Amino acid sequence: MQAGLTLNRITAQKGISIGEAARRVADLGWTPSYVREAMTFPTDYKITKVPRDPMKQVLRSYFPMQEEKDNRVYGALDAALRGDMFRNVEQRWVEWMKLFLAIIPFPEISAARSMAMLGQLAPGDELRTGFTMQMIDEFRHSTIQMNLKKWYMENYIDPAGFDITEKAFGKCYATTIGRQFGEAFITGDAITAANIYLQVVAETAFTNTLFVAMPSEAARNGDYALPTVFLSVQSDESRHIGNGHSMLMSILKEPDNHLLLERDIRYAFWQNHMIVDAAIGTIIEYGTTNRDKNKESYAELWHRWIYEDYYRTYMLPLEKYGIKIHHDDVQEAFDAIVKKGYVHKVAQFFSAGWWANFWRIDPLNERDFEWFERKYPGWYNEYGAWWENYRKLGKPGNPPITFADTGYVYPHRCWSCLVPCVIREDFQVDEVDGQIYTYASEIDRWTHKEAFAAEYQGRPTPAMGRFSGRRQWEEVYHGWDLADAIQDMGFVRPDGKTLIAQPHLSLDEKDLWTLDHVRGYTIESPLVKLREMTPEQREQHIAEYRKGYTIRPV
Ligand SMILES: [Fe+2]
Ligand SMILES: [Fe+2]
Repeated sequence: MQAGLTLNRITAQKGISIGEAARRVADLGWTPSYVREAMTFPTDYKITKVPRDPMKQVLRSYFPMQEEKDNRVYGALDAALRGDMFRNVEQRWVEWMKLFLAIIPFPEISAARSMAMLGQLAPGDELRTGFTMQMIDEFRHSTIQMNLKKWYMENYIDPAGFDITEKAFGKCYATTIGRQFGEAFITGDAITAANIYLQVVAETAFTNTLFVAMPSEAARNGDYALPTVFLSVQSDESRHIGNGHSMLMSILKEPDNHLLLERDIRYAFWQNHMIVDAAIGTIIEYGTTNRDKNKESYAELWHRWIYEDYYRTYMLPLEKYGIKIHHDDVQEAFDAIVKKGYVHKVAQFFSAGWWANFWRIDPLNERDFEWFERKYPGWYNEYGAWWENYRKLGKPGNPPITFADTGYVYPHRCWSCLVPCVIREDFQVDEVDGQIYTYASEIDRWTHKEAFAAEYQGRPTPAMGRFSGRRQWEEVYHGWDLADAIQDMGFVRPDGKTLIAQPHLSLDEKDLWTLDHVRGYTIESPLVKLREMTPEQREQHIAEYRKGYTIRPV
């Protein structure tokens, strides 16, 4: 680089307006006419209308803005340390950040890859610049989140777990849910994945619960670092939402695309609900120590962000373009949270297999019980005994709660969203290509059997792909001893025997579970067992499963 040529100097150069620069940058693009471009990222959509770039960013305006944002983040992290944040932060909260920060940088990197896909598929060169900026944003998101977990690791009282999040992400029985999320941005039909699933649904709707509601809860627990990082992330989302909407408008122009759009909005909305509400709902409701009775519950937050903001002002207006919107799905998702205890049942599942995690789950106390009962009337009756049991069985020497005589039935897992089928009455089983699969709900069944198929309502959809492979944690460890599985996952502390996960927050050595405490119990995959049954046995099993269970005190 030429001596003295700094970023500041470059950006301070007198020049043309940003709008004019954006136009000239787009002028530099070209599409070769002498070769036919290979379909690197296949799609069944037809896109003929050139999308407009709504934000018109060029490097000259983009980098100084992002540099400023980054400086604020790193400054705030320093200030948090000087302000002794780690003396006051709630341990219950930071433990859940081991899970959250294991997951989230991966969807971010997937989102960066999505932009490469969209940049190839969008005709014209205007929005290509917008997608390029969005790609750089996503790299920034991933790296500042990676930095945040390193920072927690360096400063938090129990760093075990933060150090292995990259590896743990691919192994843990909880993180697989997040993996489905990130992979959905880049697999299958490229438009389905990158534009509809990521931009139109995840970014426009669910980043609000992820990056706005969750940081508020962090602050209530004395964690000032997470809000700083995630609000910096969220400040880029308005551009992403704009890019996504512009692309969506181009797609809408072709009437032939409407059937696929209807399919994809349905699939993406439902799966975002299943995954984001499972993970973020649990972290917000169960990872907090703040039991302010005037605070909104996750159900109330959802109603505000997803129902009022997204469904009513973004999804509904699409109907005037002739897109069928599945209103009943939105209602069904809300009912799952408010009436069917979706978040509570996922939290119960996370705590049932606490030993297969790489973070600690704090038992609930009387204040928690009271808050839950106030916000979700009937809560104690259904979940109280479970959490009392969890607390009672927290000392090493007890059976792990999964294997104690509580009446709990270990759940099947959904082949589509990878969240367990926790709402028992909604459980579905079906056959695809001669194999039996289990699903959390009717829409999850439809997703695998109909949406991800070679044909949709008589129309060939070769780009859509299939959900395949060894997707389920339980199947991978079927027949394994708990202690061996934990060792295989690498969820053991440096002494080679103490588990990283603990069913409490105690730091006292005598309270810590080791491999010896969990040896002698065998992991079983409900799906493997279901496939081994005769058709009659299977019918009976499904009927039993749908009836649910009652927890008894141990
Ligand atoms: Fe992002
Ligand atoms: Fe984004």
